[in-house]
Amino acid sequence: MRHPKPLAEIVSTGRYVPSNIVTNDDLARRMDTSDEWISSRTGIRARRIAPDCEGAADMGAAAARIALERAHVDPGEVDILILSTATPDRWLPSTACDVQALLGCANAVAFDIMAACSGFLYGLSMAEGYIAAGRGEVALVVSTEKMSAIVDWEDRSTCVLFGDGAGAAVVKPSNGSGRGILSSHMRSDGNLAQLLWRPAGGVGVPLTPEVLARHDHLVRMEGREVFKNAVRSMSEATHMALHDAGLTAVDVDLMVPHQANLRIIEATAKYAGIPMEKVFINLDRYGNMSSASIPVALDEARQRGLIGPGDNVLSAAFGAGLTWGAMAWRF
Ligand code: UT7
Repeated sequence: MRHPKPLAEIVSTGRYVPSNIVTNDDLARRMDTSDEWISSRTGIRARRIAPDCEGAADMGAAAARIALERAHVDPGEVDILILSTATPDRWLPSTACDVQALLGCANAVAFDIMAACSGFLYGLSMAEGYIAAGRGEVALVVSTEKMSAIVDWEDRSTCVLFGDGAGAAVVKPSNGSGRGILSSHMRSDGNLAQLLWRPAGGVGVPLTPEVLARHDHLVRMEGREVFKNAVRSMSEATHMALHDAGLTAVDVDLMVPHQANLRIIEATAKYAGIPMEKVFINLDRYGNMSSASIPVALDEARQRGLIGPGDNVLSAAFGAGLTWGAMAWRF
């Protein structure tokens, strides 16, 4: 939707990734795969894997602490904490409430959203709406994913793709300088849920010994179909986000896309007319961290000085649901 003036802006970001690096060669020693296959098909060379003792809330809180410190925001000042994850530490209560407790955000309304890889953009869009409605001044959007806990380590076509990590952003009302969220274009299509899903483990198909034996509680993906849908949807969303922001491809200073597959990113950027020199890539080091991919990439790009004052940044995401979307910001 088009905003004549930005209503909310990202004032800071933070990230956390576990220290344990698992390379493609490490995986090739434990399953029938190779660095050549993984890197040529996806662009991924390594990923971070969290230890058993580190959960989604721990990682999310670590990323959020950094974002809050950089924004000089006291945890008690946070009005709304939106957390996206496909890997909650448990079903009840939400991981957002765990992060709230870990951070001490005593005055925040805290809840989880589940939009898979698109979760960070969905969360930002919700934070923007909350702020625009005047319901609060400080929003904390956290995306945290322990994908290693839900992939099927016996399915080489999916387990090599994902990694663990967390990213966060503090969002405040735009100060009138023109900085902030310029456009937000979010979509979903539940008809295609079975292309990327965990068939069992919820209340619909509860865990049983048979479910566990079939690995039906773990991630299943129709890779080729997901690939095609990802390129189509991210391209369309990117086009809409640019149009709604009143921008063209040449106005984009940096594209920070969801990091699932280098070929998907290249195809999306090509469709949008954005050269790859202006596209931030870190999936070679982290793999696909689902909704944490964009905030981690955004934070790295900011820290490296790739995003300066007044720069236009474009993000696009795609994931299970199916869900997808794109956003344009001015920093
Ligand atoms: O966050 C959003 C969600 N995910 C995505 O966006 C992922 C979208 N999809 C993809 O990125 C790609 O479809 C994949 C990277 C997952 C797969 O690439 P592909 O070129 O579509 O390969 P494929 O699934 O068609 O498999 C080709 C071959 C198969 O062998 P045969 O049947 O041709 O003999 C697979 O068994 O590659 C084999 N294969 C592997 N070989 C070595 C599958 N996984 C592996 C592996 N190592 N890890």
